[in-house]
Amino acid sequence: MADDVKRRASAHAGPTTTGAHASGGARDPFLLACRRVPTEYTPIWLMRQVGRYLPEYRAIRERLSLLDLCKTPEAAAEVTVLPVDRFKVDAAIIFADILLVAEPLGVGLEFAKGEGPVIQAPLRTPSDVERLPEVDPDEAVPFVFEAIRLARRALGGRVPLIGFAGAPFTLASYLIEGGPSQAFLRTKRVMHTEPRTWQALMEKLSRLAIRYLNGQIAAGAQAVQLFDSWVGCLSPADYRHNVLPYMRGVIAAIEGGVPVIHFGTNTAGLLELMREAGGDVIGLDWRVDLGQAWRRLGDGVAVQGNLDPAVLLADLEAIRRAARAVLASAGGRPGHIFNLGHGVLPGTPWQHVAGLVEMVREESRR
Ligand code: CP3
Repeated sequence: MADDVKRRASAHAGPTTTGAHASGGARDPFLLACRRVPTEYTPIWLMRQVGRYLPEYRAIRERLSLLDLCKTPEAAAEVTVLPVDRFKVDAAIIFADILLVAEPLGVGLEFAKGEGPVIQAPLRTPSDVERLPEVDPDEAVPFVFEAIRLARRALGGRVPLIGFAGAPFTLASYLIEGGPSQAFLRTKRVMHTEPRTWQALMEKLSRLAIRYLNGQIAAGAQAVQLFDSWVGCLSPADYRHNVLPYMRGVIAAIEGGVPVIHFGTNTAGLLELMREAGGDVIGLDWRVDLGQAWRRLGDGVAVQGNLDPAVLLADLEAIRRAARAVLASAGGRPGHIFNLGHGVLPGTPWQHVAGLVEMVREESRR
């Protein structure tokens, strides 16, 4: 495993950048930590570091809907860079959404005000799954690749750019449920009663994730994160049989030697299996102690996380205490990327995000 990571790391030349000290280079803290190389301080970025809590983002969203923003590469690249300018985070994540592939899949997508995403024609029958087209991301979502090229240019080598995709299970759950879900009962029903349909759907979404992520890497993404946000609703046995083989296939097919971050929430019962599926970095939410979880995962993998996003709603003292606890749990071992356990919550004061980034840098330097 370690050799594999090293080989992949050294295989990665990356596209040229305009910056003087090209990120993706040997000294970048985020990319080094992905490979468990010691860094001067613990690198930090935050999931949903671009979102409604950010005043500049809200201003842009007055003019553009979420989908239009994603489809306008200049604007998407501009918001991608905002948290790097404002907070000096150690990585940028391309502004996009895991559900952008829903439209080309022909199921329709809408972001209803205050209700989250809505899939207009959710998958209801085996023939709905059979009818899903084989999507070519270059044709279907060219704006994402263009946004990546523009964001790389705008970053000028200051920090690396992360690409991402929805993992097959989490995407399947949206396509089947039609939107957010509590219990994922329709998804589990397909999994348990229509195994051939499940297999066909997971295979299709895996092929899509591979092409989409490799396209992002070709466009300039220097690391990729697979969001399996809702996979924690599954039993270990169901994960092993119905998710793990597909995740393993996707992760093994990622090209260019870029680090792969494998993220989920509520995964305390699945960590060893997620590790088996792969990834250079495993994303942890706050429901597990980071140090204990890392011991279960073993030394051969980096970890990302895992501050409770709700802590950022508290005062700076509470934030410092909680950030220190996460750093203490990591124990200064190389291969920790500081992040939240899930995304920044909409009501978060941006000053608290600024404070957290400063604290983590300061506290982890010691
Ligand atoms: O900095 C960043 O991380 C922003 C880029 C980003 C977005 N979505 C933009 C977005 C990323 C990485 C995502 C991933 C995503 N999208 C996930 C996986 C991460 C997670 O939260 O588990 C999921 C499940 C989605 C699907 C999705 N998109 C949902 C459930 C929602 C509604 C939730 C909400 O906060 O309203 C969205 C909307 C969305 N995508 C927003 C942003 C910034 C917020 C809404 C807005 O601006 O209108």
